[in-house]
Amino acid sequence: MRVLHVAAEVFPLVKTGGLADVVAALPVALAEQGAEVRLLLPGLPAVMESVQGAQVVIDIGACFGALRVRLLLARMPGTKLPVYVIDAPYLYKRGGSPYQDSLGEEWPDNLQRFALLGWVAAHLAADDADPRWAPDVVHAHDWHAAMACAYMAEHGPTQAASVFTVHNLAYQGLFPMQDWSLLGVATRLLSPSGLEYHGQLSFMKAGLKFADRVTTVSPNYAREIATHEFGCGLDGVVRERGDQVIGILNGIDDAVWNPATDPAIAQRYDAERMEGKLECKRALQVELGLDEDDRALLVTVVSRLTSQKGLDLVLAAMPELISAGVQFAVQGNGEPALEAAFRMAQQAHPGRVHVHMGYDEARAHRLVAGADAIAVPSRFEPCGLTQMYGLRYGTLPIVRRVGGLADTVVDVDPGSLASGRATGFVFDLAVPSAFERCVRRAQASFENKAQWRALTHNAMSLSLGWAGPAQAYLDLYAAARGDALAAGSVRA
Ligand code: ADP
Ligand code: GLC
Repeated sequence: MRVLHVAAEVFPLVKTGGLADVVAALPVALAEQGAEVRLLLPGLPAVMESVQGAQVVIDIGACFGALRVRLLLARMPGTKLPVYVIDAPYLYKRGGSPYQDSLGEEWPDNLQRFALLGWVAAHLAADDADPRWAPDVVHAHDWHAAMACAYMAEHGPTQAASVFTVHNLAYQGLFPMQDWSLLGVATRLLSPSGLEYHGQLSFMKAGLKFADRVTTVSPNYAREIATHEFGCGLDGVVRERGDQVIGILNGIDDAVWNPATDPAIAQRYDAERMEGKLECKRALQVELGLDEDDRALLVTVVSRLTSQKGLDLVLAAMPELISAGVQFAVQGNGEPALEAAFRMAQQAHPGRVHVHMGYDEARAHRLVAGADAIAVPSRFEPCGLTQMYGLRYGTLPIVRRVGGLADTVVDVDPGSLASGRATGFVFDLAVPSAFERCVRRAQASFENKAQWRALTHNAMSLSLGWAGPAQAYLDLYAAARGDALAAGSVRA
């Protein structure tokens, strides 16, 4: 099975969130199970600078407003994974994030930048971009890659079936309808049964409507996005796809996130030898200027600071929890109001709250290893990776019962304790008092050393790697291809 993954981000080259972690790890796991996998990425500066052995596959010439576009084939640094890179300096060679300029404004030509990504994927699928290779399945991630599915349906029949994964339905890739002519698609796609979304063009709809199969990153989120509450206005479109929308829970890269081998942490440890974890906590308290206090429950947050993540609950509950002896170590960046509120919290509670505004991968490892618990109180959470990193490091998750958080954390109660399944603390209502009570439960459990030891052992014994999810994707690819062959949208 030849699979082309199409995405805007990949760890460690370009990362704004968990998408990059998934795009780095899933292809490798699929390859380990025998698939022949390649990536397709936009030629953002970090990609152009890092990939190895780049060769020109085809000179595409002028398209999507760029004069010079070429398709390169290279390798991901330090791996054998082949990666196609779209070299289009006019569209991709710029600072800032993949989606926004340094002031946080969306790039005004995002339509062209990400339509090009999908368009090149569709040409690879049609077997007219690389004479040496064509995929059996194109797997497009999030709205950035979603146009691949529409272009493939337009070009059809192609060599490949399409699979579209929703990592976050809240980011949809909406553009003014008057720009439709830049896309080069038939006008019949400009209706609600195509790409139109309340008078705008929606790239997310290109994936939801035209992919042979739609997946999302946890079974619970797959159910949630079919509801008005979580559907971000697209729940009707999701429901229309019926059982062609499934949830496959993400894994984590257990080579990168492994306390027994992690080069970034103060002392390595594993489920049987936990002394190192206490050393990590002490080192973190010193590093962050927190009171050196073994008995304080140290709660970390490593997160984008957006309303999705529910961190206003943490802020509101902080004074009470600090009076009760809890410490907080927060790392994140995002909305200025949340950044300012966390800075104020640090000033108000010296020695009890440390806040680092910014993005720092090695530091994230030290926080996850050194904390006792990790808070993820999200309003919605398609999967969430940080609570799984917490589980792997024996840093127990304190989470809201939504999306993938509900699928990955088993709340402590007498039944789950007795059966050895309990792994963390779960609350329901998105209100500060519910979060506060949940942290207090974690604190009580932390003070009961035998119970905490059992919980961390349960958490660290879980199997969270990519092998299982990769197998589920391979089954799905086979089913998508079978259906597409039967429907004649894929050439035999
Ligand atoms: P999302 O993709 O919605 O941001 P996830 O939990 O799936 O949420 O993934 C977030 C990823 O980004 C994790 O790998 C997490 O460690 C990382 N991350 C988020 N914020 C930071 C930060 N400030 N510094 C370092 N890593 C971060
Ligand atoms: C998105 C979601 C997050 C998920 C990640 C990887 O960014 O917000 O919940 O874990 O994608 O799938």
